[in-house]
Amino acid sequence: MVDLITFRAPAADDAADLWRLARDSGSLDLNSPYAYLLWCTDFADSTVVASAGTEPIGFVGGHRPPNDPDCAFVWQVAVAPSQRGSGLGRRLLLAFLARPGNRGATWLTATVTPSNAASLALFRGTARHLGVRCEERERFPAEVFPAEVGAHEPEIALRIGPLPPD
Ligand SMILES: CC(C)(COP(=O)(O)OP(=O)(O)OC[C@H]1O[C@@H](n2cnc3c(N)ncnc32)[C@H](O)[C@@H]1OP(=O)(O)O)[C@@H](O)C(=O)NCCC(=O)NCCS
Repeated sequence: MVDLITFRAPAADDAADLWRLARDSGSLDLNSPYAYLLWCTDFADSTVVASAGTEPIGFVGGHRPPNDPDCAFVWQVAVAPSQRGSGLGRRLLLAFLARPGNRGATWLTATVTPSNAASLALFRGTARHLGVRCEERERFPAEVFPAEVGAHEPEIALRIGPLPPD
């Protein structure tokens, strides 16, 4: 039987699975387990988990930046490798925008590294789907990352909108 995919709020007991999804993503910066616990609790209203049955298969963690509250900012988005390429990333972003903490946002924002073709395609495609612009500019140049982690690409800020009203 094919499990239906549901989109729901996270809880503390999802944090370990979200950490594993980030670890296995192949491209995300892996944060501490504690960071995913914070995102599943303090930022639960602006975070969404996709589950097949009870198993998390993707998530978007985000927040409303205090100095830019018109934005719903995507901190991290990941889809399990086995589930990619079938529209789940786009559905997750739309479910993210529908979370109570993101309602009323004018812009969907994120940062992406220039080599992340799948992520760029996801955000640009979502802008097209919504019929709005996707503006792109460098936000964090490579030099602001610690040299100790080795070469790091710059992070390009994406600003999608203005979003249609809820
Ligand atoms: C980025 C990611 C979330 C996309 O998830 P997904 O479920 O495969 O995305 P979708 O199936 O919804 O596809 C969205 C769009 O991206 C395109 N796309 C998907 N994978 C792609 C790839 N590897 N290369 C180029 N385009 C790709 C799709 O064709 C689709 O384009 P369209 O809107 O023009 O039809 C997934 O690849 C992932 O988890 N990557 C690792 C984590 C990551 O890099 N996160 C982003 C950091 S900012």
